[in-house]
Amino acid sequence: MIPRLLAMMLLALLAGFPAFAGTLEPFQAVPIPERNPQTPEKIELGKELFFDRRLSGDGTMSCATCHDPEKAFTDGLDISLSYPTTKNWRNSPTLVNVAFQKRLFSDGRALSLEDQALFPMMSAFEMNRNLDFLEEVIRSVPEYVAAFQKVFGGEPTRERIAMAIAAFERTILSKNAPLDRYLKGDKKALSDPAKKGLDLFMGKGKCGDCHYGVNLSDGKFYALNVPENPELQSDPRIAVTRRFVAKIYHYEDYRNLSEDPGRYLITKDKKDWKAFKTPTLREIAKTAPYMHNGIFQTLDEVIEFFDKGGGKKNIVLKPLGLTVEEKKSLKTFLSEALTGEETEFQYPKVP
Ligand code: HEC
Ligand code: HEC
Repeated sequence: MIPRLLAMMLLALLAGFPAFAGTLEPFQAVPIPERNPQTPEKIELGKELFFDRRLSGDGTMSCATCHDPEKAFTDGLDISLSYPTTKNWRNSPTLVNVAFQKRLFSDGRALSLEDQALFPMMSAFEMNRNLDFLEEVIRSVPEYVAAFQKVFGGEPTRERIAMAIAAFERTILSKNAPLDRYLKGDKKALSDPAKKGLDLFMGKGKCGDCHYGVNLSDGKFYALNVPENPELQSDPRIAVTRRFVAKIYHYEDYRNLSEDPGRYLITKDKKDWKAFKTPTLREIAKTAPYMHNGIFQTLDEVIEFFDKGGGKKNIVLKPLGLTVEEKKSLKTFLSEALTGEETEFQYPKVP
């Protein structure tokens, strides 16, 4: 009995419990890396590339296919779109405020937007584009050649393509949401039920243990054991995608892998088995379905999940005992307070 208890305590320590409840912060200036300064020309070039279907092998997909400005830069599906004949294995996350994230992807396998952008282009189940070939394609478009010359003082390369896209992504922001105005002192910015929801979020609901800061995310990884999406088990195309990614990340028994290992794939650390990144909650009213596998269609389902203390056998969350009224206030907070000012998206003219 005692050794078992000790083992469990040790496991709990290793499991990455939230360290402390942080505070919420209003919108602030975006961090810009020194090696890739923003200029209006670079941002515009990045925007054109983001919408350019030349970036995919068969010319059918751009970044915006799966990160659509009309859907808060998601694709609105549980499991994301994919290159024809293949199948993706995860949900397409919003790119709103992505500039504030320390690690990218739900398993954190990319460390900067510049690195990240090359993944979907190359990835066989996303855009499936050979990068040597892509460079030649972009070099064959006179408007691009002129724009790269102006912005980078040289010809199009994969690194510069990624830098321009990253510069554009740093402009995708959620600004002046009711929560921002409230945190800056406008006490009328939130309705009474939303204020109650905020108190629950930071208090009894313990959401603020992990969802804090400007993005309502601590950027850490937790194994909440959300229910499996049955599609991930039944679709052989998804099994191929899972094995392919696992093989690239040197997961030994990749052929027998039947579930998404989450952060474990990157760290090979037991405590990261099926751990996923705390996502931003900015624009959450517009980014359903939820979780890395899109298993929840509504915020009610998400709140129900946390109220029950998370998924089977997880050791991170505990049941909350929220009343029906409290769940409603929490939902009001999530759906009213975190949606930024509506601004009309200006589409670029892709050459
Ligand atoms: C076929 C659909 C698809 C296309 C095309 C696509 N993405 Fe994604 N994107 C996804 C999915 C799915 C994820 C989540 C993958 C994961 O977590 O492992 C993702 C994740 C991201 C992330 C990380 C966000 C976060 O919160 O960690 C960024 C940034 C991103 N994509 C940018 C891009 C850019 C730039 C392009 C074009 C070069 C692009 N995507 C093309 C589906 C797509
Ligand atoms: C222990 C840290 C932790 C706590 C506490 C926590 N969350 Fe989360 N939350 C996460 C992680 C990690 C995910 C992503 C899980 C996944 O993708 O499998 C998530 C996902 C979500 C999502 C879905 C976001 C999306 O875009 O898919 C919502 C909404 C959410 N949490 C709201 C809440 C609320 C409301 C509470 C409080 C009742 C709460 N969270 C408490 C870590 C936490």
